[in-house]
Amino acid sequence: MNARNDQSPSPIRLSEYRAPAWRVERVELDFDLGIDASEVTARLRLRRDPAQQTPLRLDGEGLELLAIALDGQPLDPGSYRHGDNQLEVDGAQDGSVLETRVRLQPAANTALEGLYLSGSRETGFLLTQCEAEGFRHITFFPDRPDVLASYTVTLRADRKRFPVLLAGGNPEGAGELEDGRHWARFVDPHPKPSYLFALVAGRLEKIERDYVTADGRAVKLVMWSEANVIDRCHYAMDALERSMRWDEQAYGRNYDLDVFHVVATHDFNMGAMENKGLNIFNAKYLLADPDSTTDDEYRAVEAVVAHEYFHNWSGNRVTCRDWFQLSLKEGLTVFREQQFSADMNSPPLKRIEDVALLRRAQFPEDAGPLAHPVRPAQYSEINNFYTATVYEKGSELVRMLSGRLGTDGFRRGMDRYFEANDGRAATLEDFLGALGDANQVDLLPYLVWYAQAGTPRLKARRDYDAARREFTLTLSQHTPGTPSQPEKHALPIPVKLALFTHEGRMLPLHLDGHPRSGDTELVVVLDKAEQRFVFREIDAEPVPSLLRGFSAPVILESHDTPAELALLLRHDVDGFNRWEAGQQLAIRAYEALREGGSDAAIVAWCDALAALFADGNVDDALLAEVMTPPGEVELAEREREADPERIHAWRQELQRRLATRISAAALLQRYRTLAQATNGQLDAASQAQRRLKRRVLELISLLDAAQGQALATLQYEEAPSMTDRLAALSVLVRTDAPQAATALAHFRDRYVDNPLALDKWFNVQTQRRGAASLASVRELERDPAFTLKNPNRVNALFGAWARSNPAGFHQADGAGYRLLAERLAQLDALNPQVAARLATAFNGWRRLEPVRRAQAQAAIAALAEQAGLSRNLTEIVQSMLH
Ligand code: ARG
Ligand code: ZN
Repeated sequence: MNARNDQSPSPIRLSEYRAPAWRVERVELDFDLGIDASEVTARLRLRRDPAQQTPLRLDGEGLELLAIALDGQPLDPGSYRHGDNQLEVDGAQDGSVLETRVRLQPAANTALEGLYLSGSRETGFLLTQCEAEGFRHITFFPDRPDVLASYTVTLRADRKRFPVLLAGGNPEGAGELEDGRHWARFVDPHPKPSYLFALVAGRLEKIERDYVTADGRAVKLVMWSEANVIDRCHYAMDALERSMRWDEQAYGRNYDLDVFHVVATHDFNMGAMENKGLNIFNAKYLLADPDSTTDDEYRAVEAVVAHEYFHNWSGNRVTCRDWFQLSLKEGLTVFREQQFSADMNSPPLKRIEDVALLRRAQFPEDAGPLAHPVRPAQYSEINNFYTATVYEKGSELVRMLSGRLGTDGFRRGMDRYFEANDGRAATLEDFLGALGDANQVDLLPYLVWYAQAGTPRLKARRDYDAARREFTLTLSQHTPGTPSQPEKHALPIPVKLALFTHEGRMLPLHLDGHPRSGDTELVVVLDKAEQRFVFREIDAEPVPSLLRGFSAPVILESHDTPAELALLLRHDVDGFNRWEAGQQLAIRAYEALREGGSDAAIVAWCDALAALFADGNVDDALLAEVMTPPGEVELAEREREADPERIHAWRQELQRRLATRISAAALLQRYRTLAQATNGQLDAASQAQRRLKRRVLELISLLDAAQGQALATLQYEEAPSMTDRLAALSVLVRTDAPQAATALAHFRDRYVDNPLALDKWFNVQTQRRGAASLASVRELERDPAFTLKNPNRVNALFGAWARSNPAGFHQADGAGYRLLAERLAQLDALNPQVAARLATAFNGWRRLEPVRRAQAQAAIAALAEQAGLSRNLTEIVQSMLH
């Protein structure tokens, strides 16, 4: 089905981009749908670039060609050549119409790319996934995003088996056919690239809502799912309406079709897909109900619904010229989604979560063998580039630009960008150009951020001159080399800063030549290797608060004392920097614990948190985050020879110190208070209480496992929400509680018919400590509900284990590595995209201590040796080893 590596993948390079020699102006697609075989007739009206003499070549993979005609004349075999993934046709001219008919096998498609079956043969439904290059699995076409065509799609199928027929665009008629068959037609008036094509056919239920856009268009919003879960679509429908209103208000963007369909499937490689007028979602990001959805998942549903909706402008109306520009739509849309989520919830918490994700997922990527720029220069398999770098770092770059222009300037720039590029396939230069032009500034210096991989290190040195009342901040930058880019350039790094007195007051900042000199918060831009900033009229040595709100995606190296960090933790008004001071202090404490030197940092961290815990002035959710030290992945990033089991042990010990300092009695009292207030409501305060309750329960169980387990058992039994239930179950599993088996059996029984909840049952059991987790994974693989064919299930078991339980996965004897490598080979034969993504769990192997490093290398090398690996997995394991 997919290209295998014996076809020798030569990389595709940005520098070799050429405009298409042939475009398609109009497409008519006719589908005769069936589970085992579907037939697709495509009529393409072609346009030729007079400047290019290239013959007509179309992409097409795994297609059985049944018929071919040019301008109404069937072609004889001598006038076209059909290779493995290409069709070359002689005699086509500007204005010609090429007609092909092909046969596909949806039920045999386990790669979940192109047209495939979700669910069982008896009750499942057919759907498509085309981004990035799935359309070539459906018909012959120039399958590249700079070919924009208008689509007319006609679906035909048996009415009983496929009562619902959907495609993107507006409905343009439907009716009966002979033999119990029926048809439906859809016309999309907006020209679009092939990756945004979609269809869905099967037995589905719906919920509907009427919506009127700000510019007066009546739109039918429809959400579709299998009948047994349709009641769980209401939350997503509300989120969709909120997203549509928000985009009208924040960006002046209105929806542009008469219908907007959203469909949920349990079989999906990614999170969701923004197909024009017909979004398709992994059920995990659409379905929600209080009995089976956690608070975090509710927020994720809201965010992904918004993300896909926002793509209608940032991605669909303005699309990408080529896949190197992927961040043009993804980074921008993640940024818009983050703004929306911040507006709907708590801005500082959202910022904390986003930065924590960046550090957990993107920084390691940028520091490892798979490091690549936000705009990569080359790829072998584009599906391997839907990464944290393109998405999350890409969003940080847009955030920097928006900070540079200010709210109004950024909005002006975005208006310009949408207007100038509507209906076009654009580049990052178009984006920076529009933002800059609308504000008369040159943003092209920011292109280096898009071209250069690796996380910059920002160093801050400070100097106070009491006689002159001057405080001098010297900022310098250095970006370590990455595999394909040993040398790096200096970048423009905006540093938002404030200075605090030792009483915790913010000082006015007098900085010569700065337009906002005199404010208590300023942004300075470091755009050389090193630069000095002199603040005047400073009466005593201040405490700097740097990189406020995380104003640039860098690693800040400063030399604040534990007392200074504690001061910021107590007084900083920037919620993000307050949390950040706590994180930095926790790292100092962790290192002190590991090195066994002075206790100063440990005491400072514990004292500061104990004070915050006692004084009750901090929001519960923020307090829970502040009381959580950086995760094990982040701590491992700081080491050259990491031993994940020891990192886990030290981190646990650090938290035990905190729990001791707060005291068992105080923790228990807070737990009781929070438990009394327990409800299943979704408002912010209730969610915050659950978050803190979970943290407190974890700390209690570190001090007294038996007591923690008793509380967790009760919490499990009485939980009014999945959040509380899963938090309790997690404590039972992680502490190896005698009560765990009963609770797990109960959970499995209760949710055996709910795949998303059952995924959590798999996931939580991967979190047992050490070798026990390996035994669990082996046992769970044999559970009748486990299958390598379902991406969510694979990620719930192997993904959760390898990524979220480093101490369990990284067994010194290499048994964990070998198990994962074996499964990757099996999975690759079914689904290359999911296999390649899971393989990135090996990313940090070079920075392991020598024994584990050798074991990991051997397992990856053995995998690389296997014959017939996909292009997807080959690219990942090869980069990993080089
Ligand atoms: N564009 C989708 C999003 O909203 C992601 C689809 C990626 N699909 C893939 N096969 N790589 O982010
Ligand atoms: Zn996206």
